[in-house]
Formats: sequence, structure tokens, C-alpha cells
Amino acid sequence: MFTSKELREKWIKFYEERGHVNIGAVSLIGDGTTGVMFNVAGMQPLMPYLLGKKHPKGTRLCNVQGCVRTVDIDSVGDATHFTFFEMMGNWSLGDYFKKEKTKWTFDLLTQVFGFDKDKICSTVFEGNDSVPRDEQTANLLMELGIKKENIFYLDKSNNWWELEGTVGTPCGPDNEWFYPREDGKDSSDFLTGNRYVEIGNDVYMQYKKLEGGKYTELENKNVDTGFGLDRLLLFLNGLDDGYKTDLFSGAIEYLEKVSGKSYDTDEAARKAMRIIADHTRTSVMLIGDVNGITPSNTGAGYILRRLLRRAIRYCKNLEIDATEMMGVAKIFIEKVYDEAYPLLKEKEEYILEQIKAEIKKFEATLAAGMKEFDKCIIGIERKNAFMSQKDPSYVPETVISGKQAFRLYDTFGFPLELTVELAAEKGLTVDEEGFNTAFREHQEISKAQAAAAKGGLTERNEITARYHTATHIMLAGLRKMFGTSTEQKGSNINEERMRFDFNCDHKMTEEELKKLSDFVNDVIAKNIDVVRTELPYNKAVEEGAYGVFNPTSQDQIVSIYTIGDVDKQICGGPHAKTTGELGRFEIVKEESSSSGVRRIKAILK
Ligand code: ALA
Repeated sequence: MFTSKELREKWIKFYEERGHVNIGAVSLIGDGTTGVMFNVAGMQPLMPYLLGKKHPKGTRLCNVQGCVRTVDIDSVGDATHFTFFEMMGNWSLGDYFKKEKTKWTFDLLTQVFGFDKDKICSTVFEGNDSVPRDEQTANLLMELGIKKENIFYLDKSNNWWELEGTVGTPCGPDNEWFYPREDGKDSSDFLTGNRYVEIGNDVYMQYKKLEGGKYTELENKNVDTGFGLDRLLLFLNGLDDGYKTDLFSGAIEYLEKVSGKSYDTDEAARKAMRIIADHTRTSVMLIGDVNGITPSNTGAGYILRRLLRRAIRYCKNLEIDATEMMGVAKIFIEKVYDEAYPLLKEKEEYILEQIKAEIKKFEATLAAGMKEFDKCIIGIERKNAFMSQKDPSYVPETVISGKQAFRLYDTFGFPLELTVELAAEKGLTVDEEGFNTAFREHQEISKAQAAAAKGGLTERNEITARYHTATHIMLAGLRKMFGTSTEQKGSNINEERMRFDFNCDHKMTEEELKKLSDFVNDVIAKNIDVVRTELPYNKAVEEGAYGVFNPTSQDQIVSIYTIGDVDKQICGGPHAKTTGELGRFEIVKEESSSSGVRRIKAILK
């Protein structure tokens, strides 16, 4: 068995022997500078260097970087989807280019990993109006011994890599490497990924993405390589199920033991085990990260909550106590990632406590929520039986109402997608639009109540809009200084001043206050446009937008205010048009608001 530890070592050794410095991994949680919530690719922390900044460790770098991608969360449960994975990477920052890179990838695959060169397939960019066809890479591949018929030219949707939803980031055509599960040459298979499996990607990152889908050439010609460790491991062991590698085998064995069910023969149990194992692993990584997060109702914290709650619910399906997730977590912390992520061990007690707390919280309402859900189903079934008896042409009801789904969310803590998943198991759907409406109505009522309690709404005008915009910039500054766990805890604005509460474990020093106001004034001086866009909530979150916001559903359309690369918040407005309008920002007071919460009063002059 080829182990994950061996694979990490082999990757690093191969590139170190070729002059690369191992830069290690960084936090999984975006640091707020790139505008993306989680690290979704190994290149993400290297963005400034790919754009030309000098890296302190030189021009040849490598590492193994954890990544979190939750867009496919609903697909987890099959053999090859994971919400966390490790990307093995190496980079040339304006150093070597296609000739060296093609050779090294080829040598690594054939000599170190023993792939058959006659079976390796490779795809290159076919070119378009702005970027030429990548004949050069194709020729280099053929010189190395890859068969001509195994090289395919594909379009931008396949052979171009960029970080979705961002602007000002590096990108370029790529050379993707595939290996067939069985012999075959039909290039259409690349699109479905059925016969060929992608094992890695060499991006020739020499462009910068501009507004409106345009690109400009970078001074540096970079290489950005990413090979998925979880995927490669599966292949090297001749497996077709990612849960059979050493990354997951311990967790699966544990779940088999405590449930008394068989992974191999019981299909429903297999799906549950995969979901519990995957979601527990990602939760461990997110809680135990250097910038660790905890479950909450907004942003990254809500994604963590959804992962944990989905796993808890599948523990019920598997008929095990949800606290067994802590046993699964321990295996990841102590046995699987003890060397690659030693911090997990240090934070073990804390991680387990957080998981336990979320289990407790959700379990308090889960059973009652399930009863409530069953009542909805029984109601629909009774109605259908009754009506079809009365009227043979009656079309049976198949939809759970938005109001019912909202009640499950609001009273029982069921994320909407949980209700959708439960409904699907009964062959029903959920009126998601109705859910949104119910949510909005509820929000409006709460807002009205809060306003009444406060004694009147704050005025909305140009001056308060400027103050409000200043809170965005200031929060961005605070998150930069204190990490992305810093959140808005309250805000009160009038035409004279802003008052802003945020979580922070210490009284801010003079120096920190100066740094913060310099940051805000610097953004003001740059006169950056404040741009409003609209996206479904889950897309906004994936793109790194954050904010104190409770979505009614994952695809609820929300408005996002982006201030250059400074800040991206989900927010209802009102905002200034440009930061230049704000004048001069001055902090007049920093004080305690409540335990762990600080308050800043500031004015615009
Ligand atoms: N950045 C490239 C990827 O994620 C290597 O595939």
C-alpha cells in the first residue's frame, strides 16, 4: 500500500532535488487579502509572488497545501468527492518554464510513480483570439515520449486555469495530465472524466485577469503546478474508491466497528460512512486550523455548521451515537495527520469540544425536528389519499411548503439543504422560493421589532452611507490585523459619528489603533470604487464575501459590496460610491463593550 505519508515525502524530495524550497502549508481559511473564503488551490497564498513580488524563499518553491472546496458538498457520499483535500504543488516564479516543467512532471510520473508512458494522456490549450495554441507544450510532450494520439487540444473551458470570481489574479493556459482507467482514446471522455482521471495540472501562469473577462500579460512567466494527493493516492494503489486509502481506512473501520455494519456490502451504510468521515475530517481541519473557526450562522462558520449537521444526521442513519464523530476525529488527528498537521494534536481537546458542543446543540432539536418533518410528510400523504379518492384526476402534492421548511430551519436548526435532502429521500421537493419569502418576512418582522426597541431607525443619507462604508473598510483592516475570525458584533451610525463593535480579546494598543486608522485612510486616499453586485448566497460565500447575514436559502440572491481587493461584504447598503468621498477617518475612542467585544468610535472629517 502506497501511503499518504510516503507520497508527500516523495513529492517534496523530487522537487527539492531540483532546487525547490519547501515553503510548507498555510491556513485553510483565506486571510482576507485574496477575497476567497477558503484556500481552494495551492497557488492562492502565492498570489502576490505570481504577480511579480519577490518571494523571500526564492524562485523555485514547493509544498503540500490543504484545500477546502464545498461547492460539491452534495456529491460527497460517492467514491471520489471530498470537501477537503491536499494539493501537492510546485512553482516557478519567473524561473524555469515549459521545457523543464514538462520533463519533470513526466519523470516524476514515469520514474518515481511508475505510470506507463504509453497510457499517459495530456491536454493542452487549443488557443483563442488572445492566447496562441500551445504547440510548444505539445511538442515537448511528444519529445518526451508521450504518444501523439494521446495529446489533445481543448478549449478554454478545459485548458485554462483561473481562480473563479476574482479579478487582478494570475492565470493562464494549462497542461493537464490524465491516466486511463482502461485503454481508450476518445477525447470526449476528458469531459466526463469517466475513462480518464485527471491526476494533475501544470498551469503556465503568465496572464493577469482584468475586469470584464480581459487579460494582460505578466512580466513573469510562472509555472503553477497542482496534483491532488487524495486522487493520486487512489491511483497509485490501483483503487477506485478514495475511502479505501490510508487517509480514510481507519475512520471507515472505526465506523464499521461501532455500527456493526459493512462498508463493502451495505450501500446505505457506505454512503453514510463516507459522509461522516469526509465532513468530520474537514470540520477537524477548519476548527484546528491556525486561524480556526467555530460553527456559526454566517460565512465560513455556517459552512462548518452545515458540514457538522449533515454528518450528525448521517450518524442517525447509520444508527450510531453522533458523539462517535469524536472517535473519527481522533483518528484523523492522532493517526492520519499527526505528521502533516501537528497543530491538530495540540488543539485536539479544543477541536473535540467544539464538535461535541455542535452535536449537543443540534441534537437538542434534531429529534423534535425529525418528528416535525414526519408530520409534514404524513400531512401530504393524507391529503393525497383523501383527494385522489374524491377526485381520480387529482394530481398528488409533492412539495413541502416554504413555511414548513422555514419552521424546520428557524425552530429546529435544520439547514435548508438538510430538509431538501430528507425530502428527496421521500421523493418530494421543497418550495425553496417559499422558504426565502418566509425568511424575508421573518427578518422584516425582527428588524421592525429591533427598530422599535431602539426607538427609531437610523437615518439613511449620504453622510450615514459614508460612515457605513467606513465600517466596511475598518472591519477589513481589523480582519487583516487580527484574523478572519474577527466579526462585526454591532454597529450604530448617525450623522455625527460611527460606533462599531467587534470581537477582540484585548484592549487595542495605541500602535494598533494607528495602524488601523492608517489602513482606512490609505484606502480612502486610493479613491477606490465601491461596486455592488448580486449573486446567490452560496456563490457569494465561495467567492469570499462575508457579513452578518442569515440567508433564507443557499441560493438566495444577495447584494455584495466590493471595495477593490480590500473588502467584499454581503450587505444591504447604503454605501458611498467611492472611498474618496469619505474624507478623513479618525478614531476617537476604543473601549470595552462587553466580554470579548471591543467598541470603536470614529468620525469622518
Ligand atoms: N492552480 C492549479 C489547480 O488548482 C494548479 O489545479
